[in-house]
Amino acid sequence: MVALDGPSGTGKTTVARKLADRLSAGYLDTGAMYRVVTLAVLRAGGDPADGARVATIAGGTSFGIGTSPDVQSVTLAGEDVTAAIRGNDINHAVSAVSAVPAVRALLVARQRKIVGEVLAEVGGIVVEGRDIGTVVAPDAPLKVYLTAAADVRAARRSAQDSAAGRETNHADALASVDRRDRLDSTRVTSPLRPADDAVHMDTSELSIDQVIIALAELASQRGMLSDRAAEVTR
Ligand code: DC
Repeated sequence: MVALDGPSGTGKTTVARKLADRLSAGYLDTGAMYRVVTLAVLRAGGDPADGARVATIAGGTSFGIGTSPDVQSVTLAGEDVTAAIRGNDINHAVSAVSAVPAVRALLVARQRKIVGEVLAEVGGIVVEGRDIGTVVAPDAPLKVYLTAAADVRAARRSAQDSAAGRETNHADALASVDRRDRLDSTRVTSPLRPADDAVHMDTSELSIDQVIIALAELASQRGMLSDRAAEVTR
């Protein structure tokens, strides 16, 4: 298992999916789980700052999440919300929702269950989030903490938004990325922070391929063989 943590715009999602492909492993986007709960809160007309109400809504929310690195899939009560959870309304509210301890307890338990199932079925998983190495899976054999300069992260967010047809500009993206990281790293319950034994990687100047090559090498050093390596050793 690989635990991949770090702030938004560091390339986590792209890296996690490509690495999972390369390792023939499953993939879990824990951010998508906080996002779908946030969507449920907004649709129910709940105030994201009202922790008790958020906890009640989260407890009654039925959602699904795919674990394939090739196709992202998130459902809310059976409806496909894969695109809806990436909107600006969700970006704005998700930090407040994910700071509610009851929401974290609920989702961390679900994440551990999914990780156990995928490990049993597929043999490996790459999990991305904010607290994977510190809380969800502190025993993960490889923990990685990705960082990147704020400007670079904002540019990546803008590029993602415009590719998805969402309106964007650099200043807004920078403000949004900054705000979310500040909230995520200063919350009381499991804030964004690197695990003591995480490998740090600054992706500002690196291509995705460079990051993947470095991480695949680390994974193989820790006993997680990529397909290609497995073929060679067989
Ligand atoms: O990775 P992302 O940007 O989709 O995550 C959305 C938000 O969810 C993020 O701002 C903080 C929260 N989150 C969290 O608190 N813990 C995680 N393991 C993953 C995400």
